[in-house]
Amino acid sequence: DKKITIAIDGFSSTGKSTLAKQLAKHLGYVYVDTGAMYRAVTFFAMQNGYINPDFFDKETLLNSLSFIKLQFKFNPDLGFAEMYLNDVNVETAIRTIEVSNFVSKVAEVSQVRAKLVEQQKEMGKDKGIVMDGRDIGTVVFPDAELKIFMTASATTRAQRRFDELQQKGDDVTYEAVLKNVEERDYIDTHRVDSPLLKAEDAIEIDNSYLNREEQFQVVLELVNDST
Ligand code: C5P
Repeated sequence: DKKITIAIDGFSSTGKSTLAKQLAKHLGYVYVDTGAMYRAVTFFAMQNGYINPDFFDKETLLNSLSFIKLQFKFNPDLGFAEMYLNDVNVETAIRTIEVSNFVSKVAEVSQVRAKLVEQQKEMGKDKGIVMDGRDIGTVVFPDAELKIFMTASATTRAQRRFDELQQKGDDVTYEAVLKNVEERDYIDTHRVDSPLLKAEDAIEIDNSYLNREEQFQVVLELVNDST
C-alpha cells in the first residue's frame, strides 16, 4: 500500500487528536499534534514572563525563538509521542486552561508560524503521517491526499474539553471553558496569517452526532478510497 499524508483540521476540541491518534495507530503512521507545538511555545513565553493577561512582549519572544527546541518523543507505554520543550517533557504543562487562554495570541505571530510550519513539513516529508491542527490542509500540506475538516457545536466541544479537564483534576468551570473555546474559535478564524478555514478539497465531518467508532469508520473508508 502506498503511504499518504492525512491532514486533519478544525475548531478546538472537535476530537481531532483522538481521531488522528486512532488512525495513525491503525495505519502504522506517525501522528503529529501541531497544537502541542503552539502550546509549547506559549508555555515557554509564560515561563519567561513574555506573556500574561495584560501584556505580550512579542519582540522578546521573537528574539528568543532560536532558543526553543521542540521535539516529539514516542512514549511506548502511552502509545503516542509526547511534547518536549528544551529536553523537558511538557505534555501535562501545555494542556492547562492558562496555556489555552494565551495560545491563540502566540499562534497569530507569523514568525512563530513560519518556524513551526517548517518543522512540520520536515516531519511529513516521507508521508505516512497524520497531522492535526488548523492550517494543515491549507498551508502545511496543501497536497495531502486526504484532508478532513472537523466541526461540532461550540457547546458540544466545551462540554468535551470540560470533562477532560475535570478528569485531570483541573479546577475549572464549564463557563470558563466555553468562553475559551469561543474566543479561540474567533481568533483562529480571523487572524491574518493562515486563518482556520476548510481547504477546498477537504471533507467536512460534523461529529456532534457521531460517536468515536462511527467517526473512525467513516474516515477509514475515506483513507481506503485515497490509497
Ligand atoms: O489543537 P489545539 O487546541 O491544542 O491548538 C491550540 C491552539 O494552537 C489553537 O487554538 C490555535 O490557536 C493554535 N494552532 C494553530 N495552528 C495549528 C495548530 C494549533 O494556530 N496548526
